[in-house]
Amino acid sequence: MEVLSSLAERGGPLLYTSVAVVALTWFLSTVFKSSTNAPWIGLEYGDAENRRAQFAKDASGLVRDGYTKFKNAAFKLSTQSADVVVVSGAALEEMKTETDKEHSSSAKALEILFSAKYTGFPSSGDDLKTVNLIRTNLTPGLARFVPVLFDTVDEALVADFPSCKEWTPVNVNQKLLRVIAKVSNRIFVGPELCLNEDWIAISIDFTLKVFAGANALGKWRPWLRPFMRYFIKEIDDTNNLKQRAEDFMVPIIKARRAAMEKGEFDENKPDDFLQWCLDQEGKTMNRKVERQAEIQLALSLGGIHTSSMMLTHSMYDLAARPELVALLREELQGLLDANNGKWNKTMLNDAWKLDSFMREVMRLNPSSFLGVQRLALHPFNLSDGTHIPAGTILQANLHGVYRDAAIYPDPDAFDPLRSYKQRKAASANEQAKYLFTTSNKESLGWGYGKHACPGRWFAENEIKLILATLVLKYDMKLVDEQAGRPANWQFGAQIMPDPTKEILLKEV
Ligand code: HEM
Repeated sequence: MEVLSSLAERGGPLLYTSVAVVALTWFLSTVFKSSTNAPWIGLEYGDAENRRAQFAKDASGLVRDGYTKFKNAAFKLSTQSADVVVVSGAALEEMKTETDKEHSSSAKALEILFSAKYTGFPSSGDDLKTVNLIRTNLTPGLARFVPVLFDTVDEALVADFPSCKEWTPVNVNQKLLRVIAKVSNRIFVGPELCLNEDWIAISIDFTLKVFAGANALGKWRPWLRPFMRYFIKEIDDTNNLKQRAEDFMVPIIKARRAAMEKGEFDENKPDDFLQWCLDQEGKTMNRKVERQAEIQLALSLGGIHTSSMMLTHSMYDLAARPELVALLREELQGLLDANNGKWNKTMLNDAWKLDSFMREVMRLNPSSFLGVQRLALHPFNLSDGTHIPAGTILQANLHGVYRDAAIYPDPDAFDPLRSYKQRKAASANEQAKYLFTTSNKESLGWGYGKHACPGRWFAENEIKLILATLVLKYDMKLVDEQAGRPANWQFGAQIMPDPTKEILLKEV
C-alpha cells in the first residue's frame, strides 16, 4: 500500500485508477481462468490430495459414477496429474469443433498430463511431421507393406515363440512386445535397426520408463514435482535411453544422408519412416540428429506398447475361450486356402470375424478409462451450459461410453461377434461404423476428431497378421481355468494387461 500511496502522490489520480484497473483485470482473469461451472465428482473424498489419491486407487469407479450421474452433461474430476473436465458424449462434437481449431490442443494436454517438462515425454515440436507422414506414406502404402510385414512377423514369431508339441506355459506379453517391436521397427527405422537387439530394447524400454516416471512423479504434490524429478530413477533412465537412441541414429542418418547426396539411392532407397523424414528435409538436411532420434522414440511410444497391449489382451481372451480359437481359425484358413497361402491386405480386410473380435477386445480393454485429452486454448461454452475457461483440460469418458447398455446391449459381456453381426445386418453405407479401426462417438479407443490415431490402419494390419499366424499355429488355454482370464492392471486412468501372467500354448 505504501508503494501505491507514494505512486499516487507522484502520479495523481490517473495513475491510481490505472493501477486499480490492472489489478481488477488480473483478479477477474485469475478467477475466471480457474473456474468452470461443471459439478465435481469425488468431492466426498475431501481435498484435492485425497481426491487424487482416490483416483489413483479407483479411477474406473469415479468415472463410472460421473457417467451415471451426468450422462448428458460435463463433470469435473481430480486425476493424478491435473483436474480435468470430462465431457458427455453429446458434447463431444462441440469439444472437437472448439479444440480442433488450435492444432496444439492435444499435444499440450499430453504435456500437462504426463508432466513432459520433467519426465522426458517426447515433445511434438513444430518440426514434427509424423502425423502427415503416417497419413501420406504409411497408410496408403499398406498394400505394399503387408507382405514385408508378414515376412517379419513370420521370422519374429519363429525366433520368439516356442516350438511346443505339448501344452507349454508362455509369457505372451514379453514375447509379443519383442515381436511387435521388430515388426513396427521394420517400417519405423528400416532393416538396419529393426532386428538390432539394442534398438529393440531402447524402443521398448523408453515407453515403459516414460510412463513409470510420470506415474512416480504424479504421486507428489504438483508444486513439489520440479524438485522431485531429480530423485526419480525412471526419469534418469528415460534421459539415458534418449542418449542411447541418438548414439544409434548418428551413423545411420549420416550414412543415409551421404548416400542421398551422392545420388546412390535411385533403385534401392529404403522405404521406411526414417527415410521419409530425411526425404522431407530434402537438401537442407537441417534436422538435428537428436531431434530425429526423439521423433523415432515418440513413434515407438505411440505405436509399440499400444499394439502389444492389444495383442496381449487378445491372447488372454482367446485362451479363455478355446472355442473362439477354432472359430477364427476356420475363417483364417478359409481365406488362406482361397489365396494360395499368402496374406495380402485385401484378405486381412475380409477377416470380418477377426476384426469383430479385435473390436470387442478393445471395447472391454481400452488403454485408458478416459481419453481424447485436449487443452482448451480459448474459453467457450458447451450447449449443456458448461463454461470451459481457457486452460481447462478436457477428456472423454471412454469407460462410460463403452459400458453403456443403450449403445452396447449387455455391455459387460464379451461378445466376440457383436460387431460382425451388426456389420452383416447393416446396409453397405453403414458397415464402416462397426470396424476395428472406426473412430466415432461410440468407439473412442482410437481417440476422436482431428487427432484420432493416424496409425490405426497400420496397427490393424500388424495385429491381424500376428494374431492370424498365432491362431493358425497354436491351440491356447488358460493355466488356471478356475481363475479365469488374467485381470487387468490399472494405474489411475491407464489400463494394461497383467504382464506377469502365462497362458498355455500347443502347436496344432
Ligand atoms: C492398438 C494400437 C494403438 C492404439 C490403441 C492407439 C491409440 C491412440 C490414441 C487413443 C491416440 C490419441 C487420439 C486422440 O487424442 O484423439 C493416438 C494418437 C496417435 N497415435 Fe496411436 N494408437 C495405436 C497405434 C499406433 C501406431 C502403430 C502408430 C504409428 C504408426 C500410432 C501413432 C499415433 C500418433 C502419431 C498419434 C498422435 C496423433 C495426433 O496428435 O494428431 N498409433 N493413438
